[in-house]
Amino acid sequence: MTDPTRPLAGKVALLSGATSPIGAAIARRLAGAGARLALGYGRDAAGAAALADELGGALPVQMDLADRPSMAAAVAAAIAEFGRLDLAVNNAGVSAPGHLLDLSTEDWDRVFAIQTRGFFHFATEAARQMKDQGGGAIVAIAGASALRCYPGNGAYGPSKSAVLAAGRQMAVEWAPFGIRVNAVCPGPVRDPESGWREREPALAEEVDRLPLPRAAAPREVADAVLYLATAEYVTGQDLVVDGGGTTTWYIQG
Ligand SMILES: NC(=O)c1ccc[n+]([C@@H]2O[C@H](COP(=O)([O-])OP(=O)(O)OC[C@H]3O[C@@H](n4cnc5c(N)ncnc54)[C@H](OP(=O)(O)O)[C@@H]3O)[C@@H](O)[C@H]2O)c1
Repeated sequence: MTDPTRPLAGKVALLSGATSPIGAAIARRLAGAGARLALGYGRDAAGAAALADELGGALPVQMDLADRPSMAAAVAAAIAEFGRLDLAVNNAGVSAPGHLLDLSTEDWDRVFAIQTRGFFHFATEAARQMKDQGGGAIVAIAGASALRCYPGNGAYGPSKSAVLAAGRQMAVEWAPFGIRVNAVCPGPVRDPESGWREREPALAEEVDRLPLPRAAAPREVADAVLYLATAEYVTGQDLVVDGGGTTTWYIQG
């Protein structure tokens, strides 16, 4: 019987963007639930090594989501180390600040290459192994911007919307293989202890107008990931973690 305090005991998880604030919170949550972890990083090799040390027995894995051979190699490295793959969490992301009229084709393409094409690479390479094993779970960290538009971040929301659409397509195509695919859509996420309100007063004002008037803590996104990792009858869903922001019009001042 599953130990309710360690629902991922015996499971192996691959996580992208593992050293970002949200990624590190997810890594700690999954490790605490008993998972063995492959910690995907892009450039932050030192951060990934330090997090692997902290968690004990985790494997840092370099990856470039935009590049399919790199993703295939990263998934292969995780499987070579742990022998299986039960959970894949695509947390890495990028943005290119700018209104659409100022945004270059290169910036539009870069955001889509890493976030949308990257999710396609990440999920399909993971799903091949999961299909052979008889099942698994995939979670995409998208964003509330996939559902509501935020002026001035022109490519980010559209690219995250495409992640949600791709996730639903995967959920339907891969359900026969026992693979579930879901997404988490966070609103603004900030470490409450980091002093971010002083550095970002405009954002602080905005979150104060949310129905739950604060930013999410990274661990609250991690809680949603753990739920979707273990919710055996949930697939093709977008779990919004935004303090109620997408339920109301009355946020912008
Ligand atoms: N923070 C928020 O308020 C918020 C709100 C909603 C949604 N989100 C989403 O939540 C996720 C995490 O956000 P965050 O703020 O914690 O992250 P972040 O600080 O912006 O870090 C981005 C992460 O993506 C990785 N990355 C970038 N390009 C990559 C590539 N080509 N291949 C592989 N990895 C790559 C980076 O890895 P390296 O550093 O190793 O290069 C880094 O770990 C993102 O998808 C973001 O869009 C964030």
